[in-house]
Amino acid sequence: LASLAAVDAVVPGPNRAQSVDRFVESAPGEFANQSDSDPSLPVIRDWATEILQRVPGSTLGVELVKASWLDTNDDVERTIAAALAGQQDWASRTGAERAEVLRSAAARLAAIRGDLVEVAASETGKTVAESDPEISEAIDFANYYALLAEELDQVEGAEFVPARLTVVTPPWNFPVAIAAGSALAPLAAGSAVVVKPAPQAKRCAAVLVQALWDAGVPREVLHFADVEEGPVGQHLISHPSVDRVILTGAYDTAKLFRSWRHDLPLLAETSGKNALIVTPSSDLDLAAADVVKSAFGHAGQKCSAASLVILVGAAGKSARFRNQLVDAVASLKVGYPDDAATEMGPVIEPAAGKLRDALTTLGEGETWLVKPKQLDETGRLWSPGVRAGVKPGSYFHLTEFFGPVLGVMHADSLAQAIEWQNASAYGLTAGIHTMDGDELAQWLDAVQAGNLYVNRGITGAIVQRQPFGGWKRSAVGPGAKAGGPNYLMHLGSWNPVELHP
Ligand code: ALA
Repeated sequence: LASLAAVDAVVPGPNRAQSVDRFVESAPGEFANQSDSDPSLPVIRDWATEILQRVPGSTLGVELVKASWLDTNDDVERTIAAALAGQQDWASRTGAERAEVLRSAAARLAAIRGDLVEVAASETGKTVAESDPEISEAIDFANYYALLAEELDQVEGAEFVPARLTVVTPPWNFPVAIAAGSALAPLAAGSAVVVKPAPQAKRCAAVLVQALWDAGVPREVLHFADVEEGPVGQHLISHPSVDRVILTGAYDTAKLFRSWRHDLPLLAETSGKNALIVTPSSDLDLAAADVVKSAFGHAGQKCSAASLVILVGAAGKSARFRNQLVDAVASLKVGYPDDAATEMGPVIEPAAGKLRDALTTLGEGETWLVKPKQLDETGRLWSPGVRAGVKPGSYFHLTEFFGPVLGVMHADSLAQAIEWQNASAYGLTAGIHTMDGDELAQWLDAVQAGNLYVNRGITGAIVQRQPFGGWKRSAVGPGAKAGGPNYLMHLGSWNPVELHP
């Protein structure tokens, strides 16, 4: 089973000093965007101060968003017809020619890094330190899919015919990186692309699309189409001419799309409820730092985030681990991204429903190790929370909340911890901290998740090195992994009726 997953074993070493509390320069497009950042670099890069000043009141992308509204089904029809017309020339270019355009896109994204950080921070509340590596990841996607486009030239024409039209529906939580990756892959493959932005992150998608146009992606091939999520959105997503939808979002959204069109060729990465196991053999200091980073980066609003830490045996009795965890979480500086001191930003919308419950209500037998508090009247700014005593099978154990709250579970054995880690219907990321090779082997043999991480945090997959994708209900469709070697081959045209008779 483990051979299906991306395993990245990072032993304690130089990454150890990395923490959530500093702004680090990330390598621009070296397939090393997040974990390889050198923590000894200056805390704030020169331009970061300027970006911070631009964040409040930023209007980047507004004009394009306004101009790109599809109001009616006829608008959808016109966009689709234009994309299909543009696709033929694009697909007739060689992979190497398309790769050249993608490399120009990488250069363009690097050139406007500051604008992209500004728009991500201002529109979604993502901190500057969290937004910056996204731009590196977007650049990595462009360069990596350029390599894969060149490889396509070696594939016989009959073996690979690109999807003609791909609709891309990126999420708001990685409004640049995932939007970029989801659009660039089908472009690399020779498909036309319509980007339908997430309602919370339209300006990010607009600035990105403009950058790709500026880099030479033809406007006939790449379309930016804002659309309401009612009937006109349904018309776009379920249109019979659409032969691929790349979705990153909730499992329920994938179900909704499929309810609109049962044979929709969907390539979706959907939802996660991820746990990190810590065994007594591990470096507990490193584990505590990685848990905090994985749980509270972007206020926990990552499909990859750690929602649970499962402490095995004596690890659960370690006062040192507990104190490190509690102190680190309680001292996270919460605020808005225009404040350079902010380590954890707001949640995307006023906390309501499940998330408000998770921030305010304990389940049976649970206690707060760190009690979350609402910090202002917006309902978006919350201090982070840690709840202990989460019981197997409980609501908190099995529900995705997408916010700054972590649950702690205590297992008697590694086997029990793995069982609890696997209990979720989802299987996106999973981690273990251990220094024991037998424990690692036991875990690798049994864990059920798409991306596995050993002795590091469970967020921040790196393009090419850690192809990213889910298992179980964290993937709908072929389960292809973004940023991985076979991804473009899943973007060919197929007859969906054969797949869903
Ligand atoms: N690719 C994102 C991560 O790995 C979701 O955290």
